[in-house]
Amino acid sequence: MSDPKVIGLNGFGLEVPDLDVAAKFYGAFGLAAERRGEVLALRSPGRPGDEALIVRGPAKRLHHLSFVIRPGDEGAFTEKLGKAGLKVGAAPPGGARAGLWFQDPWGTWINLCPGEPPQSPAAKPPAGRQDVHLWRELNRDPKPARIGHVLIFTPEYPRAEAFFAQVLGLRTSDRATGKISFMAAGDGVVDHHCFGLVPSTHRGFQHASFQVAGIDDIGFGVWRMRSAGYGESFGPGRHALASNLFHYIRDPWGSWVEYYAEMDRISAQWETRDWSELPYVWGPAWAPEFWGKEMNGNFEPK
Ligand SMILES: [Fe+2]
Repeated sequence: MSDPKVIGLNGFGLEVPDLDVAAKFYGAFGLAAERRGEVLALRSPGRPGDEALIVRGPAKRLHHLSFVIRPGDEGAFTEKLGKAGLKVGAAPPGGARAGLWFQDPWGTWINLCPGEPPQSPAAKPPAGRQDVHLWRELNRDPKPARIGHVLIFTPEYPRAEAFFAQVLGLRTSDRATGKISFMAAGDGVVDHHCFGLVPSTHRGFQHASFQVAGIDDIGFGVWRMRSAGYGESFGPGRHALASNLFHYIRDPWGSWVEYYAEMDRISAQWETRDWSELPYVWGPAWAPEFWGKEMNGNFEPK
């Protein structure tokens, strides 16, 4: 039996005090929301599965991570997790996802869900611009196409990177030395990252990011959020590592959600490297306090 590996990101879960606050925020962001008892299920419109599950809790807190595995790999993963000292068992309350559930060494619930990894939506053909009012043609209410990545905080940065690489089969695509590790999943040509780790005092949710078609969709999305009262944001810009266009919007609990487009795609030829470049090649005025504290502050209880 070959070594099982996760093949993509499936989604994440958050605990928050008020599900109605979450429904309003993520609804304005463009996700389709469905209330199922004590769970708020969110997905990019048209996606076949739930990308985020929001459950009630005393404070905002990372509830779980969910990765896609190949159907039929459940047994091999159960065995591999057992060898790593991790016990596969019942889902935590609110963990309404199929597949395997276990807790990582830092207490975060992880779900391994059999299925197909999400594909990147096909790029739009270039618009014929002659004799066209482009501004009238634009989709002014664009919605996310799919979840692209989640970054979490970790209290044991190198050890956590080794865990996600060795036990789950993610591979590090790039590191901002000492600050972030970006990790990719799957075979063939894949997104530069679907997951990432940021060192901190304790585990936690840093941001989730959803793919849109391009800079206009990012702009209209941020406009829609601002109109809905969510005006605190960081962007737009183009990241250095992964090269994606970005704009982050602060969520009601101090962490972030991001619209992104145009991320680098990588193959088996890609070499992992360490970088000391700024997080972005163009973007908002550089504010070390903002980037260091507001953007990367771990605003959740231990
Ligand atoms: Fe991101």
